[in-house]
Amino acid sequence: MRFQDNKEMLHGGDYNADQWRDRPDILAEDIRLMKKAGVNTVTLCVFSWSALEPMEDVYTFEWLDKLMDSMAENQIHVILSTPSGGKPPWMAAKHPDIMRTNKDRIRLFYGERENHCNSNLYFRKKVRQIDEKLASRYAKHPALMLWHISNEMYGQCHCDECQQNFRLWLKNKYQTIDRLNQEYWSSFWSHSYTDWSEISSPFRYGETAIHGLELDYQRFYSDLSIDFLKKEIEAVRKFTPEIPVTTNMFHLNCGIHYGRLSEHIDLIAWDSYPRWHCAGRRNSEWETAVSAAFGYDFSRSLQKKPFLLMESTPSTTNGFEVSKLKRPGMHMLSSMQAVACGADSVQYFQWRKSRGGYEKFHGAVISQNGSCETRVYREVEEVGRVLKSLSCLKGAQTKAEAAMIYDWDSLRALDEQKSMRRQNKGIEETMLEHYEALLKNYISVDIIDQTAEFSEYSLIAAPMLYMFLPGTAEKIRQFIRNGGTFVMTYYSGLVNENDLVYEGYPPYSLQDIFGVASEETDCLCDGEANHFTYNNVSYQATHYCDILQHQGAEVLSVYEDDFYKGAPVFTRKKAGEGYGCYLACRAEKAFLYAMYSDLINETGIRRITDTVFTEDVMVKERFSKTDRYQFFMNFSDEKRTILSYELDGYECKVIETKIL
Ligand code: GLA
Ligand code: ZN
Repeated sequence: MRFQDNKEMLHGGDYNADQWRDRPDILAEDIRLMKKAGVNTVTLCVFSWSALEPMEDVYTFEWLDKLMDSMAENQIHVILSTPSGGKPPWMAAKHPDIMRTNKDRIRLFYGERENHCNSNLYFRKKVRQIDEKLASRYAKHPALMLWHISNEMYGQCHCDECQQNFRLWLKNKYQTIDRLNQEYWSSFWSHSYTDWSEISSPFRYGETAIHGLELDYQRFYSDLSIDFLKKEIEAVRKFTPEIPVTTNMFHLNCGIHYGRLSEHIDLIAWDSYPRWHCAGRRNSEWETAVSAAFGYDFSRSLQKKPFLLMESTPSTTNGFEVSKLKRPGMHMLSSMQAVACGADSVQYFQWRKSRGGYEKFHGAVISQNGSCETRVYREVEEVGRVLKSLSCLKGAQTKAEAAMIYDWDSLRALDEQKSMRRQNKGIEETMLEHYEALLKNYISVDIIDQTAEFSEYSLIAAPMLYMFLPGTAEKIRQFIRNGGTFVMTYYSGLVNENDLVYEGYPPYSLQDIFGVASEETDCLCDGEANHFTYNNVSYQATHYCDILQHQGAEVLSVYEDDFYKGAPVFTRKKAGEGYGCYLACRAEKAFLYAMYSDLINETGIRRITDTVFTEDVMVKERFSKTDRYQFFMNFSDEKRTILSYELDGYECKVIETKIL
């Protein structure tokens, strides 16, 4: 069945059936158990290259033919993966240069996975061949529903071929070496280039001092990875133009600009492995839930439509220092959380545990005991039952009136820059603190980057928007003039797209709008704090404190300590129809909650609910054409009362209301 025609939420996961090619009994039992658990989708071939091409140009698809047929006979859809994430040893033995050269300029030997060079022409050729074989063979197969390109693409290669491609990329971007020198400010320490050939990628034992270069290598490699992906997409689309494609994203700092990548795929797929129960305290799931929700909201916002939860574990992982079991009920709750944030599926890594290999102890629906008489299986079966009852949710949208800017370019630059805080910059934490404050105000939030359209929102939060890309300052100005409320913080609007500091005061060119100018930034040591009062409550300012020149903003709070006592710390200025708010410090969570609460009230953004619940209750919302679905999720293991319902520990309640 076509993906577009499917009316159900997807339930299933990675099925590494090639490991059981000699066990028809197991393959048959898997189908029985899948159907019993309400599994309607499997992802095949993620790492099956050896099983498909055991020797160069010798193809063995027969096992997959049978498997595809048996999936079709049993009404189980197939998400078919291209196998480029893992490669057979024969390939590297003949062509060692398919292996990645790492940041220390050491070429990897064969091993592991997802570590090929994205420039290597032989590898690209082999990938194209296998992709075309798969696509042409299964183009008309009734089980084929969706393409899954490669697997969790990430990282960089620094081989000679990649360096060559980098130089071409730079030439295309800067046109002349003079222009590059200018943007890199390379006269500093006498690093001015005279020829493109003198440039090489940033390297621990080489150049690490040019921030523009570091940033460009990241951008170049992201572009190269996306180009690799595009070639794979072309290979399968040639035979299956009507089958959508996706690739599983997993880590916001994996080296790939997901915003740009998402322009080339039909839908977003996200892998999520929250570390439940690991904070060492009972009932400390809230923060884990916040960061999981951030990933889901990010995924949904990329294309502003539902996404797939492509991987999650039904029980435990094997990738962390300590991998705990999901406590009873947590599997249902964490699955529902993804759905609440906009997922149209719950899929697992993995259906069946392998008997050997790196991940033999990673959680799966079916363990080596082969049984369905297990806690994990029963919980998965329950998720299958609930998803079936929620098929009305498929395609349901999220309507966000607020957004938070989480910008790839700016964050990569912020990571690299050598500022007054070299350690514990707290960037990710800060992003999550602002996000959490918005979430706790029970509003829907999109996570966007600075290139996004701002006009559909009433409130935009932009914590630490260090870099302004061309046009951003003007967009912010227009957004505010047209009635939006924009929250700018310390460390914002400092540099241009190449990390070159803007002339004038930060935030670049917006003093008239915000009514403040940042003259200096004080960095506080861990444990130190300044203080300020807002609405008669005292709060802490930590880590970064911008010292502002007052240029006409309404001052809502001032610093109370140190030599900048009395200087503004939280300000607001009306400009046109809207407001520019400036928060000069990293402020404690309680303040962020109070600040956003006031801003939400003032902008009139609709809350999902007006009742305030205990700390550990997360509230989310989706809309179908006819109904509104409110999700109330209890992340504590104790009972909570929500409106007139009593929720058990780890319970999620969905309330459906007709809107038509
Ligand atoms: C990733 C990979 C999977 C598997 C899981 C384990 O998400 O895509 O192949 O290794 O991690 O958690
Ligand atoms: Zn390379």
